[in-house]
Amino acid sequence: MASDSGVGIHDLSFATTEFVLPHTALAEHNGTEIGKYHVGIGQQSMSVPGADEDIVTMGAAAAEPIVSRHGTDRIRTVVFATESSIDQAKSAGVYVHSLLGLPSATRVVELKQACYGATAALQFAIGLVHRDPAQRVLVIASDVSKYDLDSPGEATQGAAAVAMLVGADPALVRIEGPSGLFTADVMDFWRPNYRDTALVDGQESITAYLQAVEGTWKDYVEQGGRSLDGFDAFCYHQPFTKMAYKAHRHLLNYCGYVTDEARIARAIGQTTAYNRVVGNSYTASVYLALAALLDQADDLTDRSIGFVSYGSGSVGEFFAGTVVPGYREHLRTEAHREAIDRRQPVDYVGYRRLHQRSLPADGGDHPIPAQTTGPFRLAALRGHKRIYERCYR
Ligand code: CAA
Repeated sequence: MASDSGVGIHDLSFATTEFVLPHTALAEHNGTEIGKYHVGIGQQSMSVPGADEDIVTMGAAAAEPIVSRHGTDRIRTVVFATESSIDQAKSAGVYVHSLLGLPSATRVVELKQACYGATAALQFAIGLVHRDPAQRVLVIASDVSKYDLDSPGEATQGAAAVAMLVGADPALVRIEGPSGLFTADVMDFWRPNYRDTALVDGQESITAYLQAVEGTWKDYVEQGGRSLDGFDAFCYHQPFTKMAYKAHRHLLNYCGYVTDEARIARAIGQTTAYNRVVGNSYTASVYLALAALLDQADDLTDRSIGFVSYGSGSVGEFFAGTVVPGYREHLRTEAHREAIDRRQPVDYVGYRRLHQRSLPADGGDHPIPAQTTGPFRLAALRGHKRIYERCYR
């Protein structure tokens, strides 16, 4: 029987970008039948960062409401998970630490393993809280998903950040002990240091994801986890929302169930609402699925959620959580809706201009055009240093 850790997600908040590109605009540009995007991959639109937005500004925007609600006193660790890192040495979390005025007595670190990084961060955070239940850990998952223009991956871009406060006696979701783990050395998706767009073998990546689903589930069962029937919903990593349906169908088949589309829709339908309009947010994606589920489902009190985290390359993890009584009083449903609705539609030409923009690498003094209406912005590059600022309005 699964053991309950009494530690988990105490608060959760997400932020996304200033702009949004509807898939209709992309389809019009490249002559794709829109059904391929809306139905075939299950995507409606994708978040597009403004010139002055990046993983730091999104991460700080996601975390700020958590710090405002709970204060900074008990946060002694910040773990920033990303695969679209802005510096080879300095953690993006240190910029966020500064923007949010966190105490100097804090450890801050960045974690990377493709889209899996935030799950590693969550599990490491749980370990730290077990060691000292008075402490809380701020986990931030923030990514900009960027593929080459006119490549098949282009339709599966997006950007968002999720911040989670991890602590004892959590208000939202208790995370259970057993985890199913899987690692395989595959080249399905990667981004060498000299590139700002990812390389991907699309079909290989789907196969590798499904293999990880099998592998994590097999190990989860061996570790004494729940039976498949013991779950009420499943939050999958969603590079595109159709992938969650493929993955859950695969898991049901692997476990010997006859595939029943209504059962699949019941298990994951409510987890896809945010990812469908935000696009791939890499590390944040599985927790964006959790936000959508908690925000939309009628009442999940004491219900069990299965989490399937996948990061290309590849590492996967299957774990379980139980929703805590009273969780609805702590949700940020309105703010999440606002983060999505406030985005300004950008046309294809505007999107392409933003996509092709790169930051100057000459070490000069370069102000960045003000585009975001969010709370933080990248104001300038000066002597190879990123200068961030809070936007006062
Ligand atoms: N109406 C309805 N459906 C249509 C359609 C139409 N008019 N036209 C095509 N489709 C369907 C196809 O039948 C197909 O469905 P199935 O997969 O169920 O067969 C679907 O639309 C996609 O069509 P294609 O496979 O032809 O699309 P593609 O070759 O353009 O590539 C992709 C799709 C592989 C996802 C590509 O966008 C890609 O490479 N994306 C990036 C990689 C990725 O997201 N991989 C996911 C697993 S890896 C991971 O999860 C980590 C990560 O975050 C990157």
